[in-house]
Amino acid sequence: MSFLDNRTFQAVVSAFWLAFLALLGVNIIGGLIMPETKTVENFGYPVEVPEVAAVTETADAGAQRPNIIPLIAVATAEDGAAGFRKCTSCHTAAADTKPMTGPNLHGLVGRAVAAEPNFAKYSDSLKAIGGNWTYEKLDDYLENPKHLAPKGTMNFAGLKKHEERAAVIKFLMDNTPNAPPLPAVEAAPAEAAPAAEAPAK
Ligand code: HEC
Repeated sequence: MSFLDNRTFQAVVSAFWLAFLALLGVNIIGGLIMPETKTVENFGYPVEVPEVAAVTETADAGAQRPNIIPLIAVATAEDGAAGFRKCTSCHTAAADTKPMTGPNLHGLVGRAVAAEPNFAKYSDSLKAIGGNWTYEKLDDYLENPKHLAPKGTMNFAGLKKHEERAAVIKFLMDNTPNAPPLPAVEAAPAEAAPAAEAPAK
């Protein structure tokens, strides 16, 4: 009996040892894998930090907007008229029409800011912008009216899509007799291509 018991005991002990060694093996292999996983994760975090910083910077509008001029140049009159429907509850751009909730926008491009003679309710915040409505200034104002006129009274969130904004500016341009010409844009990508090829020859 005691001999059998002893053998059973030894078998049980062996089984435990095997299980223990197996667990140890898993731990060792796991330990080899884990540090790598952690290293990859650690690399991930510093990358995310600047991303978060970049998002915070969007509050400083302007940095993210592409050059609007080429987009205005390719915008169609149809897209412009469609986009301007978002404005028609408060504005008209037709000649000789009375201002509505907002000033008449006929002849706006190049005109002094807050200078529609029949609109008496301009906010001080809009007046404070000063100067004339250039294409770039319109781009900024229409993306987020509160950026240039923080206390302005235009109750409109802004046109976030660059193409849509460009189309609406094109519409305002079309409704401005003698609108200033679009500023010239350097054809940077076209010039960069031959320069990149040159060293290979
Ligand atoms: C809910 C009404 C409302 C909507 C919608 C609206 N606006 Fe206005 N807009 C105003 C008001 C009011 C003002 C005057 C703002 C001020 O004095 O601060 C204004 C001012 C402006 C000005 C300055 C005009 C000047 O004489 O200096 C421009 C440009 C303009 N809006 C363009 C637009 C465009 C383009 C849209 C559509 C994408 C639009 N607005 C949508 C009410 C509106």
